[in-house]
Amino acid sequence: MRLQKYMAKCGVASRRKSEEIILSGRVKVNGKTISELGTTIIPENDIVSVDEKIIKLEETKVYIMLNKPTGYVTTLKDEFNRKKVIDLIKGIDERVYPVGRLDYDTSGLLILTNDGDLTYKLTHPSYEIVKTYLAKVEGVPNEGELVRFRNGLKIEDYITSKAEINILKEYKNSSLLEIKIHEGRNRQVRKMCASVNHPVLELKRISFGGINMGNLKQGCWRFLTKNEIDFLKKL
Ligand code: URA
Repeated sequence: MRLQKYMAKCGVASRRKSEEIILSGRVKVNGKTISELGTTIIPENDIVSVDEKIIKLEETKVYIMLNKPTGYVTTLKDEFNRKKVIDLIKGIDERVYPVGRLDYDTSGLLILTNDGDLTYKLTHPSYEIVKTYLAKVEGVPNEGELVRFRNGLKIEDYITSKAEINILKEYKNSSLLEIKIHEGRNRQVRKMCASVNHPVLELKRISFGGINMGNLKQGCWRFLTKNEIDFLKKL
């Protein structure tokens, strides 16, 4: 990044004014005075000071909602070189990170941000953030299975907390369920459905902490509104 752009981004002055400041010999990069224009720096590596005071980027906080398609990983690296959700977020300068995860074969609402405090809160079990899923499963759960699902199930070595489940549609050999959980164990919804003998065929998240995906198209993203951000921060 050009030195004057970096200075402007750090809030020192406008780019034009920053150029003047450079020319007047008040700027150092890694301890060396720069008094000519044309220097570029790497914000993550280089130390820039103005009048002996180190300047740093005030990172703008960015909050994004993505409708994740299936066939993408939410991790930033993947040993199998599969497609990453992060590659779907084009056109912003900030580096954002997924809040929690969705499986490779799950679609739907994923929030991404560079706000570490909010990420911590939204992913920490003690905050019990509710997540809503639409699950197409094999067969149709009976009343007993629904009750077991709601009261807590054993999945591997873990007993799930109370959950909500409702049948939205019944088909010949499958059904569409709305499921709400406030935990986030690995493949939890899939394991819970399998545990009542109704394996998941398709899984989509439609709401996270009360924020709804609405009609955002698959593969598309948008910034959260101020109201949505305030709402999440207040949870
Ligand atoms: N539960 C799952 O099983 N998979 C997801 O992606 C999210 C919740």
